[in-house]
Amino acid sequence: MFAKKFFTCLVAAAAVFNVHAQKPVITEMGNTSLVFMVDADGSPVYSVTYNNRAVILPSSLGFVLANDTSFYKGFELTGTDKKSFDETWQPVWGETKNIRNHYNQLTVHLRQKSAPNLLLDIVFRVFEDGVGFRYVFPKQPGLQYFVVQDELTQFHLAGDHKTFWIPGDYDTNEYPYTTSKISEIDNSDLVKNSTAIAVRVAPDKYAVQTPLMMKTPDGLYINIHEAALTNYSAMQLHVDRATLTLTSSLVPDAVGNKAYLHAPFSTPWRTVIVSDNAAGILTSKMILNLNEPSKIANTSWIKPMKFVGVWWEMQTGKSTWNYSDYADSLDANGKPIPNGRHGANTANVKRYIDFAAANNIKGVLVEGWNIGWEDWFGNWKENVFDFVTPYPDFDVKGLEEYAAQKGVHIIMHNETSGSATNYDRQMDTAYRFMKKFGYTSVKTGYVGKIIPRGEHHDGQWMINHYERVAQKAALYQVMLDAHEPVRPTGLQRTYPNWLACEAGRGNEYNAFSDGNTPEHETILPFTRLIGGPMDYTPGIFKIKGYSTTPNRQIHTTLAKQLALYVTLYSPLQMAADFPENYAAHKDAFQFIKDVPVDWDDTKIIEAEPGDYLTIARKEKGKNSWFIGAITDENKRTATISLSFLDAGKKYKAIIYKDADNADWKNNPEAYTITTQTVTSASTLTIPLAPGGGAAVSVVEEKP
Ligand code: NOJ
Ligand code: CA
Repeated sequence: MFAKKFFTCLVAAAAVFNVHAQKPVITEMGNTSLVFMVDADGSPVYSVTYNNRAVILPSSLGFVLANDTSFYKGFELTGTDKKSFDETWQPVWGETKNIRNHYNQLTVHLRQKSAPNLLLDIVFRVFEDGVGFRYVFPKQPGLQYFVVQDELTQFHLAGDHKTFWIPGDYDTNEYPYTTSKISEIDNSDLVKNSTAIAVRVAPDKYAVQTPLMMKTPDGLYINIHEAALTNYSAMQLHVDRATLTLTSSLVPDAVGNKAYLHAPFSTPWRTVIVSDNAAGILTSKMILNLNEPSKIANTSWIKPMKFVGVWWEMQTGKSTWNYSDYADSLDANGKPIPNGRHGANTANVKRYIDFAAANNIKGVLVEGWNIGWEDWFGNWKENVFDFVTPYPDFDVKGLEEYAAQKGVHIIMHNETSGSATNYDRQMDTAYRFMKKFGYTSVKTGYVGKIIPRGEHHDGQWMINHYERVAQKAALYQVMLDAHEPVRPTGLQRTYPNWLACEAGRGNEYNAFSDGNTPEHETILPFTRLIGGPMDYTPGIFKIKGYSTTPNRQIHTTLAKQLALYVTLYSPLQMAADFPENYAAHKDAFQFIKDVPVDWDDTKIIEAEPGDYLTIARKEKGKNSWFIGAITDENKRTATISLSFLDAGKKYKAIIYKDADNADWKNNPEAYTITTQTVTSASTLTIPLAPGGGAAVSVVEEKP
C-alpha cells in the first residue's frame, strides 16, 4: 500500500517538475527568436519572431505514418538539449571565400503518451537570419522500417504577404513566377497553360513550390525552403488562403506514399530565412550551413568554368539534335539518311572548340552527339540512349585529340529522357567512356515522364537517383550539371562536383515559348537560386530576328545579358550564343571573356525582388571586381558606390551599358562601352533601359 502511494506521489511530482512540458522553450540568436512548446493536444508547436515581429505564428509539426496516423499529437516533452556552434569554413568554390556557420541549437525529445510510446526528436537551429529545423526519428523498437504518408509541418504566416511563387508540380519547376498575395494563390490556369517541357502533374491548385519568397506589408523579407534533401521527397506547400497557413505537401510516389524510411533517420531541414532588407536574403548562407561538409576528399579536380556549346542552334531550330529526320529513315543499304542539319558534327564541334580556345573559355558542350534523338521523348520509352554510341558524323577520338591540343574540354551530354532506370544501369559505362575520352564534366537531362513509371521528378526515388549520379560522377572525377532535376537544396556543399542545376525556367524559354518576362531574372536569385547555382545559359547577343523563330525574342537588352553573369551566380556559366553573334559584337564580348566564375567576395548593392538587383563580386585570388545591375520592365538608374574597393588604389572600370535609346522590346541590342579610372571614393550612376542592365569590370591599375 505504502509503496503504491509513494510511487503515485513520484509520478505526480515528476509531472509538476516536468517544466518543459508546460513552459515554452525559447532559443535566440541575434534578432531571431524561436519558441517551442507542446500544446494541450500534445502537438509540437513552434513560432518564430525577428526583431519582435511575428514571422511564423504558432504552427504545428508532425506526421501521418502508415503505422501511426496520429504521429502529430499525444506527445510529451521528455527533455531538451542545447548547444552553440560557431565555425568558419571555406567552400571549394562559391560566392565568398569564407562562410560563417553560427547558430544556437535546441533539440527537443518527444514521446507519445500511449503505447508503444514512439519517440520523435526535433532539432532547431536558430541563426541570425532565421531558423532551420528537422525531424529526427531515433532508433527504437516500435519504429524500424516505416512509411510516411504525410508530413504536416505548418508555416502559419502572420499576414497576407506579397509572394513570388510557382505552382506546386511533382515534375517540373520550369514556370514563370506569379506575384500575388498569399490569399490570391491559385495555380489552376498556370498549370493548364504551361509551356514547361517536362511533364506537368499538379493536382492541388493551391500548392506552390519552394524556395518561396515573401515580403510583408511592413518590409520584412521571408524565404521558406529546405536544405539537404536526401532520401526523402521534395517539400511543396499547400496554401490555406483563409488562415494564411502553408502546410508541407510531400511529392508522392507511384502508390501515393511520401517516403520509405528506416530509423534512425533525419529529414531534410525546413528553412525560414528572414531579413529586414532584401539583400539579407541573398547573402544568407543558411542553406549551405545546414548541409554536410564535402564527402569528396580530394577536390583539386573540381574547376568552375565558362563554356560555349552546340546548343543554341538546336534551341532556335537552326540545327537538330537528331541525325536523321525519323528513326526509320534508312537508305537502300540500311544506313540512316542524314537530314543535313545535324548540329553535333565533327566540323561544327571543331568550330566551337576553336572559338573557345581563342577566347580562353574552357568548355564546349555538345548535345545530340549520341544516337537516339530521332525518338527521344513523349513515348515513355525505357531504353532511348546508351550514352556511348556516337552518330556517324561525330568523331569521338578525333575530337578528343583536337580539344586536348587546344586546351579545351568537351562537356558530355547525357539526356536520359526521364528514364532514370536506364541511366542507373548505364552510368558506369557512361562515366568510363567519359574518362577514356577526356570529358571532365557532364550535363544530364530528365525531359519527359520518369521511369520507373509512376515516379515523379521530385519524389524520393528520384531524389535518391540524383544523389547516386552525383556520387558516381565524383567517383570518376566528373563535374555535374543536372537539367530538369528537383531544385537544389545546398547539396553542392556535400558534393562540390555538383556544380549547377537547371531546375527552373532558363533563358532557353525565350527560344521556344513566349519567353520569360523582363522581371524574371530579378526574381530568380530570391527563389530558385536560394538552393544553389543555376545553369541559366546567359549571354545571348542576338536578341531577336532568328529566321527559324521570327516571332520570338529574348526579353532583355544585350547589356542585361552581360549583367546576368554576375547577378545569376553559377560556377558553370555558358556563353550561350553562336560564335558568329559574338563576332558581331567583339567589344561587348570582352566582358564575357573577362568575367570569372569563382569569387572571394560578394556585395549586394541594391535589391528588390521583381524590380531590380545590383551585385558586385570580387574575383577569386585577384583584386578585380565585376558588377552586374539589372532592372525589370521599368527603366531605372543604378547607383553603385565603389566603397568596397581598396582605399588609395586606382582601378580601371569598363562600363557596358544600355544605349540611351535602348529598350528590351524595340531596340535591345543598342549598348555603349565607356572606360574610366575609379577609386573607393567613386560612385557610378548608370541608367538602365526598360528590361535592361549594365555590367562593369573594375581591375586594379598597377602603377
Ligand atoms: C532541356 C534542357 O534544358 C536543354 O538544355 C537541353 O538542350 C534539352 N533538354 C535536350 O536535352
Ligand atoms: Ca530544361
